[in-house]
Amino acid sequence: MGPMAPSYHRLGRLPSKRHVAFRGPDGELYPEELVGSEGFGGRYSLLHHRYAPTRVAEVRETDPVPPSPSPARHGALRHHLLRTRHQGPDPAGDEISGRRWLLYNDDLRIGVSDFGAGSGRLVRNGGADELHFVHAGGGRLESVFGVLDYRAGDYVLVPKGTTHRWVPGGEPNRHLVLEARGPFHLPGRYQNQEGQLLEHAPYWERDFRRPQELLSLDDPNPTDVLVRVDDRAAVYTLDHHPFDVVGWDGHLYPYAFSIHDFEPISGRQHQPPPVHQTFELDGAVVCSFCPRRLDDGPDVVTAPYNHANLDSDEVLYYVSGSFFSRRGVEPGALTFHPHGVPHGPAPGVAERSIGRTHTDELAVMVDAFRPLAMTSDSEAFDDPAYPMSWLPGAAATELTT
Ligand SMILES: [Fe+2]
Repeated sequence: MGPMAPSYHRLGRLPSKRHVAFRGPDGELYPEELVGSEGFGGRYSLLHHRYAPTRVAEVRETDPVPPSPSPARHGALRHHLLRTRHQGPDPAGDEISGRRWLLYNDDLRIGVSDFGAGSGRLVRNGGADELHFVHAGGGRLESVFGVLDYRAGDYVLVPKGTTHRWVPGGEPNRHLVLEARGPFHLPGRYQNQEGQLLEHAPYWERDFRRPQELLSLDDPNPTDVLVRVDDRAAVYTLDHHPFDVVGWDGHLYPYAFSIHDFEPISGRQHQPPPVHQTFELDGAVVCSFCPRRLDDGPDVVTAPYNHANLDSDEVLYYVSGSFFSRRGVEPGALTFHPHGVPHGPAPGVAERSIGRTHTDELAVMVDAFRPLAMTSDSEAFDDPAYPMSWLPGAAATELTT
């Protein structure tokens, strides 16, 4: 196996060895559960429960929530600007009912989720790791691994198979949500052979927040968990509450990393997108574009050059920054630049960028290596004028990616 940051973590009570008799006060064995990715070759953790996680009282059919992505009716190959802020939170909804899928392929799904107050239902995504970028709001992620507080600006990783719920803290939450069939990793080039983050990485171990407190419930009441794998779902009624873990250890657990802790790299010349890379996964990368000093070489054009991303579809989600005041792109908007069609800075931006010393933009980029399809939900957000926004005289969008 390759590197494995972030590293080993443990919570609660554990026996000194794995797979030995470990008993509660009543003398009963605590059942173990090993949760592992990539067969027995990937990241894993060992959980000690009060109740066996296999104690299922009932299984009921249900449609998947959120509904599986359905393809857009209009499939022209072109650039898109999706103004996703049209959508407000449903006050009665939770994180999964508040989701709208926008783009998808066989490797990943990309959507937004708007949700409000109240504890969400218990869910388990058995088919995908979920990476949430918290654009607005905050709260606590409760899971079998314990409680993880989150706030605006956080990336929150929920590993595949984690029984969890999102409990918003009162403010409406807006998340950018990525679901990926394969695991999310920190890029291997940021780690040494021991999985330790290297000096040239844009973040370090102490920037990652882990679950800090177990819920450790002893609740023998029937409890529903919505379980989903791809397009199939079922409601499992357990004969106990699943947040019953008394101790766990390992490398697989939800964690949070704030985009505000990403340390941007800049130089004399324009730095290419890989310096912004934050996560890697099968079929895609995730990058963070953060406020930073711009390139300061003589006569340097700090705006990006036009580029033809020959082997990736580029998705950029705008969080905050200078584009705020520009007609064209507002926070919560998302651009989708499919490969096959070059894109670049808006008219006049390259000239104006010479001598600029700083940018305050904040954006999350996903580059998918296989073509992404638009969903029918995304069509309501689509700005049809966007593909022509590079003509001289078109309203400028000032982007430095
Ligand atoms: Fe680009």
